[in-house]
Amino acid sequence: MEHFQITFNPDGRQISIHAGATLLEAAGQAGIILNTVCGGKGTCRKCAVVLDHQARQVLACQHRIESDLAVTVPPASRLYEHKILEEGPAVAGRLRLNVYRRYTGEASGPVLFGAAVDVGTTTVVARLLDLTDGRTIATESALNPQTAHGDDVISRIAYAESEAKLAALHKLIIHCVNRLLARLCRRASIDPEDIYEVSVVGNTTMNHLLLKLPVAQLGRSPYAAHSLDARDVPPEEIGLYMNPVGNVHTVENIAGFVGADTLGAALAVDIEAADGMTLLVDIGTNGELVLGTKDRLYAASCAAGPALEGARIQCGGRAAEGAIEAVVADEADIDIDVIGSRPARSICGSGLIDAVAVMLDLGVIDATGRFADAEWLRETLAPAICARLTEKDGQAAFLLAGPGDEGTPEVFLTQKDIREMQLAKAAIATGAKLLLKKLALQAGDIRHVLLAGAFGNYIRKESALRVRLLPDVPPERIRFVGNAALAGAQMTLLSHAARARAKTLARKIQYIEIAHEKEFQDTFADSMLF
Ligand code: FES
Repeated sequence: MEHFQITFNPDGRQISIHAGATLLEAAGQAGIILNTVCGGKGTCRKCAVVLDHQARQVLACQHRIESDLAVTVPPASRLYEHKILEEGPAVAGRLRLNVYRRYTGEASGPVLFGAAVDVGTTTVVARLLDLTDGRTIATESALNPQTAHGDDVISRIAYAESEAKLAALHKLIIHCVNRLLARLCRRASIDPEDIYEVSVVGNTTMNHLLLKLPVAQLGRSPYAAHSLDARDVPPEEIGLYMNPVGNVHTVENIAGFVGADTLGAALAVDIEAADGMTLLVDIGTNGELVLGTKDRLYAASCAAGPALEGARIQCGGRAAEGAIEAVVADEADIDIDVIGSRPARSICGSGLIDAVAVMLDLGVIDATGRFADAEWLRETLAPAICARLTEKDGQAAFLLAGPGDEGTPEVFLTQKDIREMQLAKAAIATGAKLLLKKLALQAGDIRHVLLAGAFGNYIRKESALRVRLLPDVPPERIRFVGNAALAGAQMTLLSHAARARAKTLARKIQYIEIAHEKEFQDTFADSMLF
């Protein structure tokens, strides 16, 4: 399939995408999340972008790519930026006042930067912002180094059994955030001392490990947090390298297993103003769900595991250069999009969901997730697709890419990988079903599904529905909202009003423990099916 280069301005981001994809998908792959109020039906006109060479406005959700393009994305068409920019200068003014008066006494002074940080169980993302105008300067991400001591929160909590081990996990995450801040400073040619404010979100366990709070009680029923409160701590108290007179703000947690990241995501998507039944699904190593309307809101958590972030998958990886992020198929063969338009080296979460959807459509795997009989497949599938049927370590496998001429490896999915993906999606689907049941609602009652997560840049909603990751709703009710938790961290970095909203929202969202429901096992078993 033909690929085209799309450049997004003023960001200057360039991606390569298969012919026929929409500009909305292309923007998502470039990490630019557009406002899609109508879910891509072409009716809300919120996703308008400008084709640079023709100086013509088009709707990104409707425009299919048939050539190389340069496109300008106005702030009003971006999901979070305009909101963040609106909040920016006000807080910057306040911060300037606070910082200068309290510490320097100067009337005017140095440049002011801040960082929003999302500490995920698997991936840590940090974004540098100019506090004087709220602009994003740069974003960096890294693998959470605590993964060496377990890849989910339960194993981290178990590891942190002694003071010394808790301190070790704390040190690892602080070191990781410091490295990210240093990388951001290098990219912006500024000094870490120019960073005055950092706002952090993360699940409750990550929040506690960052602050060096006890976590043992999070590992046993009733899974209580040591603290649910927002905190403001001096950087040296936790060892962050930034301006020593600055402040580290950590956002409120909702419950032991629904943390500040979920609150940040809920804040960023304005769930407290939702007028129709809204389901926010934030997919990380732990999946979190918030369901409700402006009148009442409930949250639940499910242990998805890190498969959708690329971990526990043999060729899996984070959404970084060289990762397959989209897979499409036609009669003759499959086609892949790779981050950074280079030979594939791994597959990230969005690519995994796409790949499994394609394998289901082709009949390579059945509804139980099992690989179909290779002999039978060879009679029904196109030769190029048949050539992808292979075996790895005695298991059936499906080759997605490689080996490349430049020595790049093969990227494939094995039977075991499919099982890992099934466990992850079943956990999330179970959470949604039990939450709906608790509120005596059906899937069809949901007006908006907001899909958030740092698993990749963009998940095709058709694929998410095909693999039954999400409740069965019409596709136009699904909107992809990107890393909403990080957007929430940005808002609380910049705006005191956003911090106040976060506090109110944390009280309003009621936590529901779904794992103790008696239907849990049966619902989970059913949700394993595609
Ligand atoms: Fe494109 Fe609504 S018009 S998302």
